[in-house]
Amino acid sequence: MRVGFVGLGTMGTPMAGSLVRHGVELAVWNRTAARGEPLVARGAALATGMPALLDACDVVLTMLADGDAVDAVLGRRTGGFDRSVAGHTVVHMGTTSPDYSASLERDLRAAGASYVEAPVSGSRVPAERGELVGMLAGDRAAVDRVRPLVDLMCRETHLCGRVPRALTTKLAVNLFLITLVTGLAEAWRFAEAHDLDLDTVRRVLDAGPMASAVSAGKLAKLVAGDFEAQAGLSDVLYNNVLISASARAAGTPTPLLDQCHRLYAEAQALGHGGEDMVSVIHALQAREG
Ligand SMILES: NC(=O)c1ccc[n+]([C@@H]2O[C@H](COP(=O)([O-])OP(=O)(O)OC[C@H]3O[C@@H](n4cnc5c(N)ncnc54)[C@H](OP(=O)(O)O)[C@@H]3O)[C@@H](O)[C@H]2O)c1
Repeated sequence: MRVGFVGLGTMGTPMAGSLVRHGVELAVWNRTAARGEPLVARGAALATGMPALLDACDVVLTMLADGDAVDAVLGRRTGGFDRSVAGHTVVHMGTTSPDYSASLERDLRAAGASYVEAPVSGSRVPAERGELVGMLAGDRAAVDRVRPLVDLMCRETHLCGRVPRALTTKLAVNLFLITLVTGLAEAWRFAEAHDLDLDTVRRVLDAGPMASAVSAGKLAKLVAGDFEAQAGLSDVLYNNVLISASARAAGTPTPLLDQCHRLYAEAQALGHGGEDMVSVIHALQAREG
């Protein structure tokens, strides 16, 4: 199996790095070529463009920002799309709406390509450690073909059924993540406002029944005032919009998420979009006047 990886951003670079670390001979491509240099230094081959990448591989893993990026990279809705993707298996690992993914599957099948949805749970640090949690959906033969590759980037992978059930699972997981981290930021601000000993608060939270890898990681960032992005705030807002749209379509209320949505939008408007999602604390501070 010849493997290509497209989209070398915050997540894509460490994910492709996991493949290289496990000895996969990888061709990579990124719109901004310079972002491929660290992987080339580790043995990946940098393709000169998407046509060259598609020529060099049978399976293309994409870790791109959104559906527009996937369409642009695959040349979807252009004359050459069918010819360039035919015979390939496209593995869509970024987060998009389930509806988008279902329509991409239809187009790829019509063009003679296979399609697998493989969104991941976990941010930059689990990606660097190869400890993401992968969700897989699609035609079973194609899923079985690519699962060993996805396994190399993940602590666990789970089969979700047909497209778009992996992405819908991912949105359910992210609904919990967003409300969890926003609740943590609100608790931290509450503790600060009451002049509590913050180190004690942190130790109690880390030892208590709600502690998790996410709460401990985000708490450490709040303690250190470290807002460098692991899960970028504007990306969280994008996810929030996707979840809200899916919830509305299914007729299920999301009152907690709706509050989070406002807070993340406020934090982005304050200029924190490029920082980590814990920067939502700035929206809470701003509301205090
Ligand atoms: N960060 C997380 O914690 C996390 C966790 C799980 C899932 N996700 C999802 O994974 C995906 C990637 O996230 P990320 O954090 O890695 O994002 P990122 O750092 O912003 O990287 C986005 C990638 O998409 C490429 N891209 C964007 N627009 C493009 C276009 N029009 N044409 C070609 N390439 C384009 C970028 O290329 P350039 O380098 O040229 O800009 C870059 O390679 C998103 O869907 C996100 O929701 C993120």
